Amino acid sequence: MKILGIESSCDETAAAVVVNGVEVRSNVIASSLKDHQAFGGIIPEIASRRQIEFISWVVGESLVKANMALKDIDVIAVTKSPGLLGSLLVGLSFARALARATNKPLIEVDHIKAHLYACFLRLGEHSYCPLKSLPAVGLVVSGGHTSLYAFEDFKSFKVLGSTRDDAAGEAFDKVARILDLGYPGGPVIDRLAKEGVNSEIEFPQALLKGSYDFSFSGVKTSVLYYKQKHEQESSFSKAKVAYAFQSSVVKVLVTKALEACRRRKVSTLVVGGGVAANSALRLLLQEQALKVGVKVYFPPMALCLDNAAMIAGLGFHWRR
Ligand code: KG4
Ligand code: ZN
Repeated sequence: MKILGIESSCDETAAAVVVNGVEVRSNVIASSLKDHQAFGGIIPEIASRRQIEFISWVVGESLVKANMALKDIDVIAVTKSPGLLGSLLVGLSFARALARATNKPLIEVDHIKAHLYACFLRLGEHSYCPLKSLPAVGLVVSGGHTSLYAFEDFKSFKVLGSTRDDAAGEAFDKVARILDLGYPGGPVIDRLAKEGVNSEIEFPQALLKGSYDFSFSGVKTSVLYYKQKHEQESSFSKAKVAYAFQSSVVKVLVTKALEACRRRKVSTLVVGGGVAANSALRLLLQEQALKVGVKVYFPPMALCLDNAAMIAGLGFHWRR
């Protein structure tokens, strides 16, 4: 079964062809990120206008790269929600029109659950999570969401907990703004933190014991107060602040995800979303999971950020 996936929830316009829910034949992504950088965050109006400009080309290119024509496609899958309304509407309208015009079935897929599905896709040499590894716990860490799920199949995801304030990626972006590091903050903090290893700074970790919920606004505020107090000192180092902030966030994510695995007696953990690209998270989670007999899967880097392969992949399991 060949599924054409379409994703347009935020600033990426993406299309992909995935065969039988696992083989990624093409994965094309256009982004308006550069247009937003001067503003320090995504401007929804600009994002949706760019979506309109990109969508036809991206879909066409995904077919070319997969060496297929529209007639070879069996099903179309598209991101339904959540996301920016204007951006979502572009992909949804395009997919609905395409499905109607070509008389193909259309599946509308949840963006957040699809982020977890990226771990099950085959792309190059990357080690993927076999479908038979379920049940699993899923940790979604993106710019807009931080949630823990438990699932036994791809139709029934149970939310264990989610963020009470800032999402993990949002906290990276806001801290980068506090430190004048530009947007998006995740990649730059990830890089800079490597120069601040062994930082003596310690920021609080909101473990919210007894709950699977997350809270990252406290650590963000601690960074702000730390900067205001120490900025003028010669020893002030953005790298050390970045390292300490990243450590706090990563430790919370690792502790809570592995606690969920332990309590649910599950030995597979899948991680998805933009923050799944974070090198410190990958390292610590792999290290700690090994100690407790949990196998952790991350998507390949190309499928951590928003993409349509994850939409086509999950769409395979959601088709009627
Ligand atoms: O999943 P995504 O593309 O968008 C949403 O669906 O929200 O994630 C984007 C987020 C941004 O907040 C960005 O700063 C963060 O992912 N991010 C990272 C890294 N790369 C991207 N955060 C930490 N470390 C990274 N290496
Ligand atoms: Zn996303």
